[in-house]
Amino acid sequence: MSERQKTLLLTGASRGIGHATVRRFNREGWRVITCSRQPFPEECPWGGGAENHVQIDLANPSDVIEKVEMIRDRLDGKLDALVNNAGISPKGPDGARLNTIDTDLKTWGHVFHVNFFSSVVLARGLKEELAAAKGAVVNVTSIAGNEVHPFAGAAYATSKAALKALTREMAHDFGPLGVRVNAIAPGEIETAILSPGTEKLAEKLPLRRLGQPEEVAATIFFLCSSESSYISGTEIEINGGQHV
Ligand SMILES: NC(=O)c1ccc[n+]([C@@H]2O[C@H](COP(=O)([O-])OP(=O)(O)OC[C@H]3O[C@@H](n4cnc5c(N)ncnc54)[C@H](OP(=O)(O)O)[C@@H]3O)[C@@H](O)[C@H]2O)c1
Repeated sequence: MSERQKTLLLTGASRGIGHATVRRFNREGWRVITCSRQPFPEECPWGGGAENHVQIDLANPSDVIEKVEMIRDRLDGKLDALVNNAGISPKGPDGARLNTIDTDLKTWGHVFHVNFFSSVVLARGLKEELAAAKGAVVNVTSIAGNEVHPFAGAAYATSKAALKALTREMAHDFGPLGVRVNAIAPGEIETAILSPGTEKLAEKLPLRRLGQPEEVAATIFFLCSSESSYISGTEIEINGGQHV
């Protein structure tokens, strides 16, 4: 009998870490349903076809709730993995870091909707399908959730700290359903989200270099595979030793 093809739902698939994750899971034979604000591009970088793409604005909670129904209709009752990867890190004028004193509440709320609340809505909305597959959830947090970062702002950092706490709470609540929930916390990965000057920071890291999106995708894949079958409620740091 041929094995059932596994399905991943991935947010923030259009660029950076998300894009590398699509490629890795495709290579491993998974079906990947991608989510981003843009419609399915004519020149498809993902290869999954338009039926495997959902246009969604994660900053808009009612859009996310509505799209959960659309996503469910595209599943065969089972979801093997949900990766909450989309994230935003707004900056002030000239790329300045937005701190706890300067960040206006509207920006703060916007960041939380994309980086935090969308993960809750998607996981809760697809709970039955995740349970049916004994699936895995991976939340993409950040080193900035654990310590003050020279470039990442306060709204971003607190949203990632909240996402880390959510990982713990979800691991507790989804575990009895057979669903594992973990987080990965990247450090400085070479994508569009990085601020100018990060190369200088990377020179001082123990591994003396930026990370690559493929190295993050490999850890995400590990956490969604049976190789990590007894790991739940943890956060894996992927940062070349930046935290030491
Ligand atoms: N790169 C790093 O060094 C680093 C370090 C720590 C943590 N992280 C985390 O890793 C994740 C991926 O980062 P990245 O560097 O790959 O980021 P990126 O290149 O900036 O990509 C961000 C992704 O999020 C999507 N997105 C943004 N706003 C959205 C919205 N309102 N609705 C739907 N999708 C939205 C974007 O898609 P569209 O624009 O097409 O909608 C894009 O695919 C993020 O959570 C980030 O915080 C990255």
